[in-house]
Amino acid sequence: MGGVNIDWDLLRREAVAMTRRAYAPYSGVLVGACALTGDGRLVRGCNVENASYGLTLCAECGLVSDLAATGGGRLVAISVVAGDGEPIAPCGRCRQLLFEHGGPDLLLDDPDGPVRMDALLPGAFGPGDLDTRAGT
Ligand code: THU
Repeated sequence: MGGVNIDWDLLRREAVAMTRRAYAPYSGVLVGACALTGDGRLVRGCNVENASYGLTLCAECGLVSDLAATGGGRLVAISVVAGDGEPIAPCGRCRQLLFEHGGPDLLLDDPDGPVRMDALLPGAFGPGDLDTRAGT
């Protein structure tokens, strides 16, 4: 049946490789992310901090930008890791970013097995809410 095969080991490896590109002189927390798209591409990101701390870009922000820049589409599965190679929880803002491009079926790598986006962000506000509520 349809759908792309998810190579979790590859996603993890590529996410770890991205931590080496992170720019995190303020927190010292290196983060890398790699995701599989619906058409079989890999997209990647790393965190990029700023002297004005609140402007920090999370790894998932860079990944979503890579998604758009390389042709768009949907996120199917994602690995987000810290510099120690272990999964790190996506922050609240990034859950919202990922929901926009992956929806409730997006899978996040976790040591206990993949976690669905609708478990990470229950009752999410998304594009569908704009469609149904605009003008009401
Ligand atoms: N960070 C991410 O890159 N993604 C997340 O989802 C959690 C937090 C980064 C932002 C900052 O550079 C560092 O981790 C510490 O908060």
